[in-house]
Amino acid sequence: MTRSFRPDPIDAAILDGLVDLASRSPSAGKAQGWHLVVLEGADTERFWRHAFPPERRGGFRFPGLFHAPVVALALVDPAAYVARYGEADKARTGLGAGPEAWPTPYWTVDGSMAVMTLLLAAEDAGLGALLFAVFHGEAEVRAELGVPDGLQLLGAIALGWPAEERPPGRSASRPRRPPTEILHRGGW
Ligand SMILES: Cc1cc2nc3c(=O)[nH]c(=O)nc-3n(C[C@H](O)[C@H](O)[C@H](O)COP(=O)(O)O)c2cc1C
Repeated sequence: MTRSFRPDPIDAAILDGLVDLASRSPSAGKAQGWHLVVLEGADTERFWRHAFPPERRGGFRFPGLFHAPVVALALVDPAAYVARYGEADKARTGLGAGPEAWPTPYWTVDGSMAVMTLLLAAEDAGLGALLFAVFHGEAEVRAELGVPDGLQLLGAIALGWPAEERPPGRSASRPRRPPTEILHRGGW
């Protein structure tokens, strides 16, 4: 993750390319029920002023985060999945009955994979990115940007050219779990 950016803009064609790659991520029933609401340049303040208002910024360790030329909200649409799984070829799954019928919310799974592809594509293009939670001001951000009710906000993505100084996040010193801890060969 990159938490400090140069303010230089990202060409529209680069951003389109990242989203094109992300759109090739796996998607249940190819429902593809994900969206990105994108703010660029000075417009990013329409997000920051609600999610991270100036009076909460004192002592913040990553002031270079606010220079990111792009802030994107990653949203998923449960209704698109319910509708897709209500179609004839998926009807036997019973998942067309409503979101509560889903043991695993595939909209969250698909959206997360698309976001991951976007993050990898950004890194590959020499950009940096931070996926972060919108703990504060989500309702205000949604109202500001006209996000329809019913869409689930996965998180926000700050995107841009990395600043020279890339301060590590608070969790960075936690050791990465080795494969031997993650793998359960032959069963749990
Ligand atoms: C769902 C999710 C939410 C996250 N929220 C935040 C956040 O609010 N602030 C932040 O600085 N990093 C956030 N991160 C980034 C993680 O802290 C980061 O990926 C992890 O510490 C590993 O760091 P690395 O990717 O730089 O190796 C989030 C990551 C995920 C997957």
